[in-house]
Amino acid sequence: MRYQLKPIFCRPWLLNGLSTRLIESHYENIYGGALRRLNAITEKLESLDFTKTPGYVINGLKREEVIALNSTLLHELYFASLGVAPVAKGRNIPRPAGALAEALARDFGSFERWRDEFAAMGNALAGGSGWVLLVYLPRDRRLINQYASEHTPCIAGGIPVLALDMYEHAYHFDFGTNTRAYVDAFIKNIDWKAAEGRHEDAAKVAPPRPLVQGELARPGPRAGMVRRAVEVRPGGGVLRLRLPCRLQDRDHAARGRLRREIHEGWPLGLEGDWRRNQTYRGTIARE
Ligand SMILES: [Fe+2]
Repeated sequence: MRYQLKPIFCRPWLLNGLSTRLIESHYENIYGGALRRLNAITEKLESLDFTKTPGYVINGLKREEVIALNSTLLHELYFASLGVAPVAKGRNIPRPAGALAEALARDFGSFERWRDEFAAMGNALAGGSGWVLLVYLPRDRRLINQYASEHTPCIAGGIPVLALDMYEHAYHFDFGTNTRAYVDAFIKNIDWKAAEGRHEDAAKVAPPRPLVQGELARPGPRAGMVRRAVEVRPGGGVLRLRLPCRLQDRDHAARGRLRREIHEGWPLGLEGDWRRNQTYRGTIARE
């Protein structure tokens, strides 16, 4: 596979406080360099005989592949995060609208609180490096700000919506060591319209299917039993069940399901064989 250079998404000459030279150099040298490195690593991996290649060679190349690939993806998102967004009357910076505005208020308390956390995370990286990302988590259907140092530790299953590059190459030409001014300039140049579109797409992603231990899963039709007790009178100490299959005392998994679903944790004692579609009258006792 050969990765292709994506065109720069923003129009650098329209940005406010970020120079065209800074953005173009960032795009050509850093993003372009990551992509060229990624293709070289991919080519090398494709040439390997994995049955004969030492583990340390595979380790090194696969680690570098993740770093180069994530650097490529995050830089594409960074340039797509910048643009010219209209500033509403009475506001000094552009703000999101619609579902993204509601999601930020829901998950952070308010837009201002999200902005303060996002900016503080960027400022806290002064003298270091890494990414600050606004990420949507389908599993929890919520937004979260996260760090991604070394381009890599992104939240599993998360979908980045905004990316702030805090590597020195992203700001030093214009701002020197004044990272605070750079973070402010980034926030003033966020293309919220584009971010709203990415959030809209991310919010449509279904959460992963629930992780359920097999024994705890509800029984299927073949292995199943009638999960509804014909008569349950725990107070009276009487339990009657109709079971569609044979159940013996040693069927621990099925007994466990019965205990959880009907007995609510009470001990369950079985006497003899319970045969198909048999209505059984037994006794239970509270622990
Ligand atoms: Fe960068």
